[in-house]
Amino acid sequence: MLSDVTSSPHTAPASPATAEALVEVNHLVKRYGRFTAVNDVSFTIRRGEIFGLLGPNGAGKTTTLEIIEGLRRADGGQVTVDGLDVRRDRRAVQRRIGVQLQATTLFDALTVRETIHLFGAFYPSARSADDLLREVALEEKARARPQDLSGGQRQRLALALALVNDPALLLLDEPTTGLDPQSRRLLWETILRLRARGKTIVLTTHFMDEAQTLCDRIAILDGGRIIAQDTPSGLIGLLNASATIDCALVPSPGGQPPDSAALRLLPGVSDVQAGAERVRLYSTRIEKTMTALFQYAEARGMSVEQIQVQAPTLEDVFLKLTGRGLRE
Ligand SMILES: Nc1ncnc2c1ncn2[C@@H]1O[C@H](COP(=O)(O)OP(=O)(O)OP(=O)(O)O)[C@@H](O)[C@H]1O
Ligand SMILES: [Mg+2]
Repeated sequence: MLSDVTSSPHTAPASPATAEALVEVNHLVKRYGRFTAVNDVSFTIRRGEIFGLLGPNGAGKTTTLEIIEGLRRADGGQVTVDGLDVRRDRRAVQRRIGVQLQATTLFDALTVRETIHLFGAFYPSARSADDLLREVALEEKARARPQDLSGGQRQRLALALALVNDPALLLLDEPTTGLDPQSRRLLWETILRLRARGKTIVLTTHFMDEAQTLCDRIAILDGGRIIAQDTPSGLIGLLNASATIDCALVPSPGGQPPDSAALRLLPGVSDVQAGAERVRLYSTRIEKTMTALFQYAEARGMSVEQIQVQAPTLEDVFLKLTGRGLRE
């Protein structure tokens, strides 16, 4: 894949040192007054990958993207795109990037095709509207007004606008927030196709399934800091578990509630999270843990109810790292 990417004139490395890395963010700091929104953030985005910034509301995802895009000034640290400093070489950087903002304002007086033309007019060599409409599967809506598009179609139009200058790097801020499952999947397919064509993509999301499905590598942001970064499977590997068992352990009338210290000692259990009503066991040996769990419950007169067994997810990783759910 790398050879495809580097053969494109738009992604030719600025220097041999940046052959692998397209974006380098080093010790980035951004403050709003006395509040530090981005706190010593460092990561590298490799050519041809989909890199995800995953984190809850207010984590600093948009701020980080806007600094890479040259829309905000950092208070500390350094960001380069293709070896170019985003502050010193702002215009050269902007020729190499395509941006989809968290909310895109469109002119309802123009049709979809006219909107693409308008955006193309800002660039010396813009891609043709037909080509872009095909790329995002919006050919049938060329004459529609943005106000008459569905949420998913609007997001695909916003993506077409980000692609108008045929950028090497696409920055997508929550591209699927507010979309129904089918529109999300359509957009995922488009994003994966773009990677297959050699684009490098950075996206923000607070959907762990989206990050898990799309991203080659992920940085998890919380409170302005990166708390973990790796491939999805590397992050899930932090849990040291092959499965999670979720259930309610219901005591018999007058019986004892479940004891998480005792559950932790069951065979195969690597971690336990006990809420008021449900417990979650992380297990490296699912069959052994299940058998032992039923024996534990029976010996104490408890019933095991609403049991769910599944592979651990990035949500579990976030929970383990922060003690909170991603959307709390
Ligand atoms: N212009 C601003 N002035 C003051 N504070 C700001 C400004 N922009 C963002 N912040 C604060 O900085 C923090 C990070 O905001 P940011 O928009 O980067 O978060 P985010 O991770 O993109 O969140 P979301 O998932 O809600 O989009 C938040 O606490 C936010 O309130
Ligand atoms: Mg945001």
